[in-house]
Amino acid sequence: MRVLLIGSGGREHALAWALSRSKRLSKLFVAPGNGGTALVAENVALDIEDHTAVVAFCQRENIDLVVVGPEVPLVAGIADDLRAAGFAVFGPSKAAAQLEGSKAFTKSLCDEAGIPTAAYARFTALEPALAYVREQGAPIVIKADGLAAGKGVTVAATIPEAEAALEDCFSGAFGLAGAEVVIEECLVGEEASLFAVSDGEHILLLPAAQDHKRVGDKDTGPNTGGMGAYAPAPVMTPELIARSRREIIEPAIKGMAARGTPFSGVLFAGLMITEAGPKLIEFNTRFGDPECQVLMMLYESDLLDMLEAAAKGGLSAVEPRWREGVALTVVMAARGYPGAYEKGSEIKGVAGLDTDKVQVFHAGTEQDGGTLRANGGRVLNVTGYGAEVAEAQSHAYAAVDKIDWPEGFCRRDIGWRAVSR
Ligand code: AMP
Ligand code: GLY
Repeated sequence: MRVLLIGSGGREHALAWALSRSKRLSKLFVAPGNGGTALVAENVALDIEDHTAVVAFCQRENIDLVVVGPEVPLVAGIADDLRAAGFAVFGPSKAAAQLEGSKAFTKSLCDEAGIPTAAYARFTALEPALAYVREQGAPIVIKADGLAAGKGVTVAATIPEAEAALEDCFSGAFGLAGAEVVIEECLVGEEASLFAVSDGEHILLLPAAQDHKRVGDKDTGPNTGGMGAYAPAPVMTPELIARSRREIIEPAIKGMAARGTPFSGVLFAGLMITEAGPKLIEFNTRFGDPECQVLMMLYESDLLDMLEAAAKGGLSAVEPRWREGVALTVVMAARGYPGAYEKGSEIKGVAGLDTDKVQVFHAGTEQDGGTLRANGGRVLNVTGYGAEVAEAQSHAYAAVDKIDWPEGFCRRDIGWRAVSR
């Protein structure tokens, strides 16, 4: 099969790496890709916002399957445009990607389908939102409705913080994404990421993972896209997985089908495990980054089989095999991230680290002749495998310590919740 993978993050390098091991793969393109995807596939400088150009590329290259990594092109309808031109796509339609593209849409589906989630109210103007926040009290959560590159959520510990977040949203800090605001009850518990691949009807659950959103050790400092992850996450016991499937995943997949907008692709449920059970924090309509990196490290079957079945139907026939044990990934980021950071620094010592126990997935890197350079905030995902979390962690950090990149940093405690269990 000839495959086009869209995206340029660590998630896409992990997907490209797993796809490149498929016996059924004859050619893999990644658009635009990064310094790591260049090692396992052919990067193509396509403008992915230009759907006509993407379709023309697929026609020219006789593409059999398009795999869409990130949410922005999905919410913009790239899957619809490709399907209209006759191509098979792993990733939801524009209508189904509203599960990520609009928090208000997801809340209304939760109401309709009885999915447990935080109590909420929606606002399109500042004054009533301020009044609501003052009445509810802190802590309270303020969310811009639309896509805001992971920056649209404020978990406000105090009323002034909540007021400032509302003022930001309504003064245009997130553009149109903040024209509507969802204000939520603050949930308390441990977070987990649950992934369900679907063809619109059938559901295949992947191992549950746990991300580390805060930039600093022991979960301090500002939120990021994710500083590290591991899977399987022991917080998700078999009982909690079964309950999350029954109460959250199945009603969502059934609800979307009943609305005439079936969801196909991978549904990512961000969960809070509260005293009352699992509650949905948010849906995403793509693999998590860096969660995907640990899932791919554990995936043993042919990834093309699963992605193709989700795209074309017939997922019930797919029975993936997973490696026993644990995978854990440490994100190395450019100093300053998630704030301002420099690009262009040289990274040494990455080549030759990959083994059965370690894979270095690239995110914001580029190959510059023979030199590897940082060109993003999150730059490398150093991924270890082991029988237990502690072993996966020690393999990952041993590899981190061999990388020579003074301009980078990482958290030193990825996996701490599982290790201290
Ligand atoms: P998001 O950008 O939607 O992934 O949210 C970022 C983070 O904010 C989540 O991973 C949670 O840690 C936190 N968060 C979002 N909604 C809530 C909520 N209702 N209660 C507590 N924390 C939340
Ligand atoms: N790691 C969380 C996300 O991909 O949104």
